[in-house]
Parts: sequence; structure tokens; C-alpha cells
Amino acid sequence: MEAVLADAAAKLATARSIVVLSGAGTSKASGIATFREAQTGLWSRFDPAELASEAGFRRNPARVWQWYQNRREQAANAHPNAAHRALVDLDQLSGKSVTIITQNVDGLHQAAGSRRVVEYHGNLHENRCINCERRYEESTTATYTPPKCPTCNEWIRPGVVWFGEAIAPAVLRASAAALSAADMLLSVGTAALVYPAADMINQALRQGTPVLEINPDQTPFTEACHWAIRGEAELVLPRLIEALAKQS
Ligand code: OAD
Repeated sequence: MEAVLADAAAKLATARSIVVLSGAGTSKASGIATFREAQTGLWSRFDPAELASEAGFRRNPARVWQWYQNRREQAANAHPNAAHRALVDLDQLSGKSVTIITQNVDGLHQAAGSRRVVEYHGNLHENRCINCERRYEESTTATYTPPKCPTCNEWIRPGVVWFGEAIAPAVLRASAAALSAADMLLSVGTAALVYPAADMINQALRQGTPVLEINPDQTPFTEACHWAIRGEAELVLPRLIEALAKQS
């Protein structure tokens, strides 16, 4: 691992614009379960289509609302871990700009102090009316059962992206702009199975941007990446920053 770390750090030393595609594994050390783990994962007991789709929400609004209230509570009690902090350290190095495109909806990158964060799948703490799309802050919807929009009397739903839904155009634009200017892409803690998020790795590879993957497990992109480090983000990222410091 040392040789791979040193080689990736040497490239990172010359990179000015760095994009990080982050996924659930980045927040795991903060106590937030990832989605696909068989026993403990967020999807382990329920069908994702029932919990994370508009059709599932319409079938059973109370169940979906309570599941999201529970995830909000989990996120509110969580703190950034060493992986989030290492990415802040990277951004603070002179001459470097780090854009984090995160599939996570827990807000932990911002809580750690990262300045440029694109929330690809939305944010757990926002809500909107299923009909008129009016936004509601979490503080106004802290109810056990899903509230109704006072304007049109339709359900208020979590403001995250569900299966089958489009990514917001502004988010797509911001991600594409960051990616096309990137000197290096770090794919951290994502299974790279959900599209269009995972396609950003393809795009980086197509345009010749070097990709470093950090994940304890194999992903569909492991072989194609320039470097793949098998390990936890909270351990590997701080070591990468240390290796980077040795470069100068
Ligand atoms: P997944 O739960 O699919 O994958 C988590 C990844 O993190 C796996 O590849 C694990 O091997 C890896 N992992 C576990 N622990 C780790 C650690 N400590 N450090 C680094 N990696 C670790 O989560 P995502 O790929 O983020 O979408 O999932 C993408 C999307 O699928 C989510 O945003 C969500 C889900 O359906 C929506 O809700 C729309």
C-alpha cells in the first residue's frame, strides 16, 4: 500500500483542481450505516423501492416519513470523522481547490468545514411539497406523521433524490464543470453502482483524469482506476495527506 500511496500522493502534489466523489463509506466511521451491507445496511430490512421512491412514499407515507425522521436523527447526532477532516486539510493546502460531489445526504462534509460541496442526492434536512415543490425547513416538519403542505394540502416529502428521479439541473451543471476542470478524481467510499453518479468516474477516465479509488472492497471501477487503495477512508485519507506532506 505504501508504494501506491506515495505514487498517488505524487500526482496529488501537482494537482490544482481535485474532485472527490464521496459515498456512504465516507460517513461509516461517523456511525451512519451504508446502504448495501447485508445485515446492518440501510436497505437490509426494507426494499429500497418502498423507502426511496415516490411510488413507495405514496403507498405508505407514514412508513417512509418515519424512516427518514430516523435517518435525520442519526445524522443530527453524528460528527465528521477523520475522512471528512482529511479532505478539509487537503482543501486548505495552498494552490489546491477541492470540490466534493457527495452522494451522502447527511451534511457531514459541510459540518467538517469543506467549502465546495455538491449534494448530488440532495440533503436529509430539507423537505418539499410533493405537488407544488415549495421547500420546508426541517424545523417546521418535526412531526411523527408526514405533514401536509398548507398551500395545496398535499404531502410534504423529504428533499432527497429518490430512485427514478432526475438530479437537479444546477447540481448536474456544477458537477460537470468541476469534473471537466479536474486534475485528479478521488472516488471515496462509494460502491459506484448508482447512476448517474457513478458515471462521473467513467467521464474522468474518458477525459484522461487520473482516478484514485479508496474502498475496502472491489467496485466495478477498481481495475480501470489509476490507483486503488483497499482500506477505510478514515484511515487511508489521513495517510494520503501525510504522504503528500512528504512530497514537498
Ligand atoms: P453503498 O452503501 O452502496 O456503498 C458503500 C461503499 O462504501 C461500499 O463500496 C463499501 O465497500 C464502502 N465502504 C464501507 N465502509 C467504508 C469505509 N470505512 N471507508 C470507505 N469505504 C467504505 O453507498 P453509495 O455507493 O454511497 O442513493 O450509494 C450510492 C447511492 O445508493 C446512495 O446515495 C443512495 C443509494 O441508493 C439514493 O438514496 C438515491
